[in-house]
Amino acid sequence: MPILHPNDIVSSEITPPEIYRERRRFMQGMGALAAGAILGVAPEAGAGVKLAGVRASAYSIDEDKTPYKDVTTYNNFYEFGTGKGDPSENAGSLKTRPWTVAVEGEVANPKTYDIDALLKLAPLEERVYRMRCVEGWSMVIPWVGFPLKELIRRAAPTGNARYVEFVTLNDPEQMPGLRRRILSWPYLEGLRLDEAMHPLAILAVGLYGEVLPNQNGAPIRLVVPWKYGFKSAKSIVRIRFVEKPPLTTWMAAAPREYGFYSNVNPEVDHPRWSQARERRIGELSKRDTLMFNGYGAQVAQLYRGMDLQKFF
Ligand code: MTE
Repeated sequence: MPILHPNDIVSSEITPPEIYRERRRFMQGMGALAAGAILGVAPEAGAGVKLAGVRASAYSIDEDKTPYKDVTTYNNFYEFGTGKGDPSENAGSLKTRPWTVAVEGEVANPKTYDIDALLKLAPLEERVYRMRCVEGWSMVIPWVGFPLKELIRRAAPTGNARYVEFVTLNDPEQMPGLRRRILSWPYLEGLRLDEAMHPLAILAVGLYGEVLPNQNGAPIRLVVPWKYGFKSAKSIVRIRFVEKPPLTTWMAAAPREYGFYSNVNPEVDHPRWSQARERRIGELSKRDTLMFNGYGAQVAQLYRGMDLQKFF
């Protein structure tokens, strides 16, 4: 089972604090200069294609953002290898145009969207979200995207639609990691319909004001900030509305370790390690992990009455 134990995260992969502090000083200086500049375009962002007309969102958190370099070089995307640096090194082979996303299953309006039409489906927003990986590290990422519910509303789910399945690209020509049977491909994830309709759940098409880098799940990925990062399926090609809970890739790989809900929960340990604390990438000391990753006020009502030890 290829998910690493937190102790496997060697310290050389975590930005040393002096470099981090230096970057922050630089950013703060630049931030003062750039006050009033276009939203989301941080001075240290990459030289990627800027996304126009991105709005601010009240759902953003006010915490220090993880530097662009860490967000884009410390990744999990097993289709491009299992090492943290593999996706940024290997994902250049992913072709993000042409690209379509099929919306199908229990809906009144099935439709195959061209990615450029999806980009115009709803106003793009910057959502600065806390992201917690099941391996015990976390980041704060300024995503750009739109609420998933905008797409769901247009699809008009039928009364039978209770879950949403996200299917990602399965093309070994573009994704060399697919030739290894380390997981059952394609990478599959799922949400209950009411979770998918929650305003915090977004389809992301960018980060730091720019088009999403391939290693982060271009051209379109899910972002569900109150759940462990693995729920946030990358490079989506199909969104299917179904009656039964989908068998997600991680549930198929290790059902005792990964449940359907995968809500961030410091009280439910992974069978092989504690989930009580986390290391924010770029910081030296660990911090306490928050219930629902700190989004409890917004999402706890989705799980009222459920035993979260059982439905982990
Ligand atoms: N999506 C696909 N298609 N393949 C993957 O291997 N890894 C998941 C998730 N989405 C993964 C994926 C895991 S384990 C995590 S933690 C996040 O993507 C990482 O997202 P990031 O690299 O943008 O931080």
